[in-house]
Amino acid sequence: MSDAQANIGVVGLAVMGSNLARNLASREGNTVAVYNRSPERTDLLLSEHPEAGFVASKTIEDFAASLAKPRTAIIMVQAGRGTDAVIEQLTAAFEPGDIIVDGGNALFTDTIRREKTVSATGINFVGAGISGGEEGALNGPSIMPGGSVEAYKTLGPILSSIAAVAEGEPCVTHIGTDGAGHFVKMIHNGIEYADMQLIAESYDLLRRIGGHDPAAIAEVFEAWNGGDLESYLIEITAEVLRQTDEKTGKPLVDVILDSAGSKGTGVWTVQNALGLGVPVGGIAEAVFARSVSSKTEQRAAVRGTITSRPPVVEAPENFEDDVRAALYASKVVAYAQGFDAIIAGAAEYDWNIDKGAVAKIWRGGCIIRAQFLNRIVEAYEKNAGITSLLEDPYFAKAVADGEAAWRRIVSIAALSGVPIPGFGSALSYYDSLASERLPAALVQGQRDFFGAHTYQRVDIPGTFHTLWSGDRSEIETEGSSH
Ligand code: 6PG
Repeated sequence: MSDAQANIGVVGLAVMGSNLARNLASREGNTVAVYNRSPERTDLLLSEHPEAGFVASKTIEDFAASLAKPRTAIIMVQAGRGTDAVIEQLTAAFEPGDIIVDGGNALFTDTIRREKTVSATGINFVGAGISGGEEGALNGPSIMPGGSVEAYKTLGPILSSIAAVAEGEPCVTHIGTDGAGHFVKMIHNGIEYADMQLIAESYDLLRRIGGHDPAAIAEVFEAWNGGDLESYLIEITAEVLRQTDEKTGKPLVDVILDSAGSKGTGVWTVQNALGLGVPVGGIAEAVFARSVSSKTEQRAAVRGTITSRPPVVEAPENFEDDVRAALYASKVVAYAQGFDAIIAGAAEYDWNIDKGAVAKIWRGGCIIRAQFLNRIVEAYEKNAGITSLLEDPYFAKAVADGEAAWRRIVSIAALSGVPIPGFGSALSYYDSLASERLPAALVQGQRDFFGAHTYQRVDIPGTFHTLWSGDRSEIETEGSSH
């Protein structure tokens, strides 16, 4: 048994956990304790990475004993039941003042529950969202920790030492108490879904209307990556499109089944946004687009009933520029909706979330890292109280500048039969915000007609109901019209 040599420990040594442990071990001053349920994985990690100087244990008790106090351990197991089991074991082996960190993609409400249970023992529990995949875990992820301010005092410097660095700043900040970190990671993933869907729609338009092959589209994305769309997702899109399938010699994208999977974080974002009453149509459409794609049987059945499809409209001049502008405008909308969800979540769960700080830590290490996030940082630096990113002068102008192209793209896609749920819903959302009057007035009238749900008037305060089945006169009623 080893004796209190390590300042940080990692439990769960699958790829993410191993890489995070190696990242920690590579930073000066860190000695890393490791533990995995099946010891074979621990042995493998030790034999493959002797340079890391890991302190390995075969039991959770030995693992706890190998950590200097206050003990700090990061759990890197698949989110779900496994996490609860490890937390239980660690809680039994740790003492008040120690810190248990869950670095998995946990549902934030689970994190709130776990924090409550663990903190009752005097042990700190921190749910930390970690983004960047395997490579990020090894070389520098973006980290979104929740939990207490107290725990962050110990944890902050350790996490800062392994996080990605963007514009000279580590991509980690204390997001807020209990589940705030995992909530923000969930929204990150929702935005990730929307961003990927919009890029995929751009590719489809360039292919089906623009007439370009995947290699040519890769060039387009590469060029876009040199401008305001510069981002990790655009960069890897070019790489994927350029890839040739070894077996057939075809573009790889043409031999990959067009049925997209998901692990559920996008669904969580939409479910929670629905509960919070925040319209995140761009994220929802991205989730639904994956669902539609995976209904292969249904798609084939419906396709079988269709006898004609609209002819593809010839690509107008500057089509690529139009797609680029539509992508940028739609992306602004998706991020605006994501930040709206953060604002609503913070209000609901009583978190004091600094939106500018969130944008800052997403500039490096994570999947949605992008130049664009600097503009969001600036927007919140200028005015932290804006009701929507679309209100910020830079974004308002960016969308206005791209508006004509955006409309041309949505029209040409509709006329040509190319699905653009992301672009289309983003534009409708923008038009909803931009419209002086919405047909919601009629919806209120309908609700009042069949359910006496009442309405408010534009000219007189109060709540009203029309006696639809009587003489159709209007009466003033008690209560609200919602
Ligand atoms: C990250 C990623 C990571 C993972 C997601 C998405 O931030 O590093 O978001 O968490 O790739 O789980 O996975 P799905 O597309 O399978 O839902």
